[in-house]
Amino acid sequence: MTAKEKLGFGVIGCGRIAPKHTESIVALSDAELIAVCDVVPEKAESLAQKYNVEAYSDYQELLQREDIDIVTIATPSGSHAEIGIAAAKAGKHVMVEKPMAMTLAEADLLIKTCRDCGVKLAVIHQNRFNKSIKLLRAALEAGRFGKLTHGQATIRWNRNQEYYDQAPWRGTKLQDGGVLMNQSIHNIDLLQWMLGEVDTVFGYTATALRQIEMEDVGTAVLKFKNGALGLIEAAATIYPKNIEETLNIFGETGSVIVGGIAVNRIEVWEFPDSEEEKKQIFAAQESDPPTVYGFGHREIIEDMIRAVKTNSSPAVSGEEGRKALEIVLAIYKSQQTGQPVKLPLVED
Ligand SMILES: NC(=O)c1ccc[n+]([C@@H]2O[C@H](COP(=O)([O-])OP(=O)(O)OC[C@H]3O[C@@H](n4cnc5c(N)ncnc54)[C@H](O)[C@@H]3O)[C@@H](O)[C@H]2O)c1
Repeated sequence: MTAKEKLGFGVIGCGRIAPKHTESIVALSDAELIAVCDVVPEKAESLAQKYNVEAYSDYQELLQREDIDIVTIATPSGSHAEIGIAAAKAGKHVMVEKPMAMTLAEADLLIKTCRDCGVKLAVIHQNRFNKSIKLLRAALEAGRFGKLTHGQATIRWNRNQEYYDQAPWRGTKLQDGGVLMNQSIHNIDLLQWMLGEVDTVFGYTATALRQIEMEDVGTAVLKFKNGALGLIEAAATIYPKNIEETLNIFGETGSVIVGGIAVNRIEVWEFPDSEEEKKQIFAAQESDPPTVYGFGHREIIEDMIRAVKTNSSPAVSGEEGRKALEIVLAIYKSQQTGQPVKLPLVED
């Protein structure tokens, strides 16, 4: 394998999710982990030592390295756009954790900068790569649902006060958002991926139990452009622990419910003449992942490598990642105004 065939990776941000990035990168034959970075030097050094790679505390220095082709950004959400833009200007392809940015203006600048600099941009919505979700998407693309009627994205998880207190950015408006922006955005991405473009959003949010600036519970009703309806329920308040992350999709000739702890388990699979298929799916399906981060990071990184090598779009491009962000921001606007919000969202 030539040096060019093996793409060099830098990981920026060495907190809770970063090991999912590093362990995926080192498991891929056409990827090489070159360096990691964290503003807290001990965090960068500890991860770097594990893989015998370079540690940085200033991401701008990491970006100077010519042997890095792709950076993955796993810093607090409020810093994603700024770091992604700097990476694009340094000529690096960008993989950014969700949410890609905290505002549409920032997301658009990140998308534009990547385009202008000729680099790829991918947003890490790894659940699109769950086996269950790929089966659902294939059924949808084959038209098996007939006319889509409605769907629901439910997340019933527990994030206790200690979770929010472990870092000052958690639960804040500028750096994180609440349960809709942080945890539920994955499932909102799936809901809109299945049901299509959103017309109108109406939502309520509340800070019910945790001492945080943003919401720990949120609900929304959606109308899609194709006439389908949608429901979102997002809660970080569930007693005493995570119960489920579930996606329901219903149509004239199809009903699918994917649940489990993180949308890995198919619970309902109903189409005309689907009895045999259903048995096979139930026999072969994935179990719940060990953490709610799921199994998808490796495949989404693999997909980015494919996109870079073939000069094509990553599966979850910047434009794709922007869609769920817009829905969450529309729910926040609806909560503020007490009114339904028609998309495209106009930011204040
Ligand atoms: N895809 C997923 O399922 C998933 C899961 C968890 C977290 N996330 C996302 O990943 C991001 C990080 O979350 P986390 O739970 O790992 O947070 P964390 O607080 O555990 O880690 C963030 C790290 O970034 C470092 N950091 C802050 N500013 C930096 C900078 N300018 N340069 C370099 N390092 C910097 C911090 O010191 C910290 O170590 C968030 O955007 C979150 O929404 C995604």
